[in-house]
Amino acid sequence: MARKSGLHINTQSNSPIFRQISEQIADRIRSGVYPEGYQLPPSRRLAEEVGTHRNTIVRAYEDLAAAQWVTSGVGRGTFVSRRGKSPAAPSTPLPQGGLPWTTLLSRVGAAESLGRVDRLPRSLHNDLINLTRMQPSADLLPADELRRCVDHVLRVHGPRALGYAPREGLPQLRELIAQDLARSGVPADPEHIIVTTGSQQALDAVARCLVNPGDAVAVEAETYTGAINIMTAAGARLVSVPGDDEGPDMSALERVSEAKCLYLMPNSRNPTGNSISEARRRALVAWSRRANVALIEDDYGADLELDEITAPPALRALDADVIYVSTFSKRLIPALRVGFVVCPPELGRYLLNLKHMLDLGTSALLQHALAEFLDRGYLQTHLSRSLPEYRRRRDALEEALSRWMPAEVRWSHVKRGVVQWLRLPPQLRADEVFAEAQRAGVLVSPGALHSVSGGAQSGLRLTFCFEPRERLVEGVKRLATVIRESLARGPSSRPSNANYFEA
Ligand SMILES: Cc1ncc(COP(=O)(O)O)c(C=O)c1O
Repeated sequence: MARKSGLHINTQSNSPIFRQISEQIADRIRSGVYPEGYQLPPSRRLAEEVGTHRNTIVRAYEDLAAAQWVTSGVGRGTFVSRRGKSPAAPSTPLPQGGLPWTTLLSRVGAAESLGRVDRLPRSLHNDLINLTRMQPSADLLPADELRRCVDHVLRVHGPRALGYAPREGLPQLRELIAQDLARSGVPADPEHIIVTTGSQQALDAVARCLVNPGDAVAVEAETYTGAINIMTAAGARLVSVPGDDEGPDMSALERVSEAKCLYLMPNSRNPTGNSISEARRRALVAWSRRANVALIEDDYGADLELDEITAPPALRALDADVIYVSTFSKRLIPALRVGFVVCPPELGRYLLNLKHMLDLGTSALLQHALAEFLDRGYLQTHLSRSLPEYRRRRDALEEALSRWMPAEVRWSHVKRGVVQWLRLPPQLRADEVFAEAQRAGVLVSPGALHSVSGGAQSGLRLTFCFEPRERLVEGVKRLATVIRESLARGPSSRPSNANYFEA
């Protein structure tokens, strides 16, 4: 008795019919419905069954044969291939010579700051609310739009999109990035833009370009963990500069003019969430010129304006010697891994060599797809959907903080970006609150991760881009209970300036 194939054609689908059929057959092979050696129906019969032309089925079978799912021979029929099996795993463990790995490890590999996250205690709470993730939640990731762009790129550019990209990035993307920067008042010639694999790589290349082991590099007292790690890996001697809500303390900076560079995030300081004021930006640029210290401006939160007020001018808009780094990870899609650096021309050629050394180029396919995304205006459409949602999440978080947090805990209204910083009263240690909070089911970033010495105990960072509003509120309630109980227990027996990671 002839078996019906059960394959069907989706009249709504955009993919060609032969592709739909070959994909359905591949699915069945993958799931074992069509086992090895199974004979597929003759093309004429399957064509009648699904109501299509026989040539369409022939193309579907050819498609499957090209991917080695099936083998066909003239007059023999089409059979599911014998798929190569990987050799069975050896039942006894491989012999190990006992190399002295700890003595072989480099100083950078074993650097204390790189392993901090691993040394934090981990909770097994089964409903942990995660207020540490710095990425959009799944509902705010434009998967369909990206798929359309990738399809378009493969259709139009075909294999040309599948090779290595030019070292400095695709010309079209650099042009579009320059236009986008102009919109936010950052002057940039496309020739001076280098596309990088995430802004993390841009920071890495900049650090390698400027820092010799032992050189002083200045960072804010509370700063981005990833920048601490990159500078540490470059062998920098990190100098922590105190500051206030307006930015780094200028008189403290006058004492660190031996530094090669100062790393800053003017628009949404990570972890404190506030921005550097315009007056302080101008003072920083003047200091950089006077002291011959390079400014590295990390605009990782570009476009994440929550209150529709224009940010003060970028440092790069005040001085063309500023090294400006940004990314599409936070405003769009982290998985693109596309960031960029706008650099002074004198540095460009060295930065480019370093970027090329690091990865031989950022994915051409993803650069093409991002260029298509920007060209279609999808970024603006995406922001018009995501920004109101971030605003609602920020408001829900701040309302919950006002309602539930003890008065001793301080925070400021966040105007841009996706992080909120809680300043704890001196009698509490951030690492102890962090550990208790995790046990109570809420994960936050302790200040120690954001300080050069690992000793900052004054605060906790919360992000509001990843969890939905109701879980943000529940997270604040859990954290507030922990803090209230800690306050009731009285001061910790450990000194508040102790280094958490050495304790
Ligand atoms: C301040 C800051 N800069 C740079 C990065 C690196 O991001 P990406 O490499 O995804 O562009 C991050 C990531 O969290 C960040 O927080």
